[in-house]
Amino acid sequence: MSSNDLFERVAVIGAGTMGNGIAQVFASCGSAVTLVDVDGDALDRGVAAIGKSLARVVKKERMSQEDADAAMGRISRSTRLEDLSDRELIVEAVSERADLKAKIFRTLDEVAPASAILASNTSSISITEIAAVTGRADKVIGMHFMNPVPVMKLVEVIRGQETSDETTDAVMRASTALGKEPVEANDYPGFVSNRVLMPMINEAVFCLMEGVATKEGIDTVMKLGMAHPMGPLTLADLIGLDVCLDILEVLHRGLGDDKYRPCPLLRRMVAAGRLGRKSGKGFYDYE
Ligand code: 3HC
Repeated sequence: MSSNDLFERVAVIGAGTMGNGIAQVFASCGSAVTLVDVDGDALDRGVAAIGKSLARVVKKERMSQEDADAAMGRISRSTRLEDLSDRELIVEAVSERADLKAKIFRTLDEVAPASAILASNTSSISITEIAAVTGRADKVIGMHFMNPVPVMKLVEVIRGQETSDETTDAVMRASTALGKEPVEANDYPGFVSNRVLMPMINEAVFCLMEGVATKEGIDTVMKLGMAHPMGPLTLADLIGLDVCLDILEVLHRGLGDDKYRPCPLLRRMVAAGRLGRKSGKGFYDYE
C-alpha cells in the first residue's frame, strides 16, 4: 500500500451502515475522517458501529488495540456540510434519493475546496446526473463499496460522462491504498455489480413466489451448488428489500427491458415493512 495515494482529509456523508463502514476503512488506513449526518443520534450509532467492527478486527488479531484506538481517534463528527471546507475527498453515502443527493452535491460544490473530489457511494443513481448539479463534473465520481465494507474487497469506480482521467486515477489509487480492489465501470443503470446481482435476487424471489422451492431450499442451492457465501434471499435481507426494489426499479426504467421487472412478492414484502435485517424481518426472522 502506498500511503501517498491515500487522501489525508476525507469526509463521509451519512452515518448508516455503508457510511460508517467507509469511514472505518479510511480511518484504519490513516486518513483523518469527518463523519457527517444531520441526525446526531445516527452519528452516535454510526461511531458505535465502527467501534464494534474494529473490536471484531482486533479480536481476530488482524489489528492491534493501539491501531484501532488510533483509527477511532482519526474520526471526528459533524452535523454540518459547511464544516468540510478543507476536505480533499468527500464520499456521500446517504439514502438512495436522487433529490437528496442533488441537494447535498449542490452544497458540497459550494463549501468544498475547488480541488476536492466529490464521490458518491450510490448503488444505482446516475453519476452523470449527480455531477450535473455541480460546477465540477470532472471531479465527480462513483465509489461503490460493498456491504460489509470492512470485509468486501471490491470498490466499483464509476466514471460519469464528464469524469476526468485524473479524478479516476486518483480514486483508483486511493482505493488500492485502502487495501481494496478497484474496478472501473461506466455510468449505466446498476453499473456492473447491481445489473448482474439484482436480476439473480429478483429471480430467487420469483422462485419463492411460484413455489419452486422453500426459501431455505433456494438459498442452499446457490450456496452449495454455486459456492456463494450466502443465498440470494439471505443476501437480499442483508442489503435491504427496499434497496433491492429501488435498484430493480432503476434498472427497469433505465434500461427499458421487462426482464428487470421487480417480482410482485418483493413489492409486497416492502409494502408490509419487511425490509430484511434492519427491520427485524425479511425473508427470514431476525428478532
Ligand atoms: N466488520 C469487521 N469484520 C467483519 C464484519 C464487520 N462488519 N462482518 C464480518 N466480518 C469478518 C468476520 O470477523 C470474519 O473474519 P475472519 O475471516 O477473520 O474470521 C469474516 O468477516 C467472516 O465473517 P463471519 O465469520 O461472521 O461470517 P461469514 O463467514 O458468514 O461471512 C459475510 C459473512 C462476509 C457477510 C459473507 O457471508 C459474505 O461475503 N456474504 C456476501 C456479502 C455480499 O455479497 N455483499 C455484497 C452485497 S451487494 C452490495 O453491497 C452493493 C449494494 O449496492 C447493494
